[in-house]
Amino acid sequence: MKDILSQDDLYLLVDEFYKKLLSDPKISYIFTDVVKIKLEEHLPILVTFWSQAILGTGGYTNNLTQIHLDVNEKSYLSPELFQIWLNHFNNSVDENFKGEKAEKIKTQALSIATVMQIKIAQKKG
Ligand code: HEM
Repeated sequence: MKDILSQDDLYLLVDEFYKKLLSDPKISYIFTDVVKIKLEEHLPILVTFWSQAILGTGGYTNNLTQIHLDVNEKSYLSPELFQIWLNHFNNSVDENFKGEKAEKIKTQALSIATVMQIKIAQKKG
């Protein structure tokens, strides 16, 4: 297995990841009912985001935490949902890639998920 080296690799990763999310009824409703994402628009944004985060390219300028706080206003993003999200993400990485960037992207996902959950918990309080 190879490491994540290019935007094409990231596209494959997010494609596999969203197949898992969308086929798991415990979380898919967020992407189909709460927010109706258009995959053909959504996946390239995810590639740009992760490319900036782990390949060091630029181009992602949105406020990722605020976007998720907005989703959370519509439907509570519980710790359980974050765990499901992270499990599917980590499995998608491990099934397709191995190496330094593959480790880095999982660590980054966990730390971003942790920050999001802290912000969501602050809102609740
Ligand atoms: C419970 C966990 C999560 C759920 C249910 C979730 C759900 C969503 C939804 C519904 C959107 C589309 C929002 C919109 O277009 O209005 C979105 C966008 C996005 N999410 Fe998540 N998310 C979760 C966690 C995460 C985490 C931990 C990360 C990063 C590590 C992440 C990265 C992104 C990115 C990059 C976008 C695109 C934002 C943009 O349009 O600029 N998500 N997410």
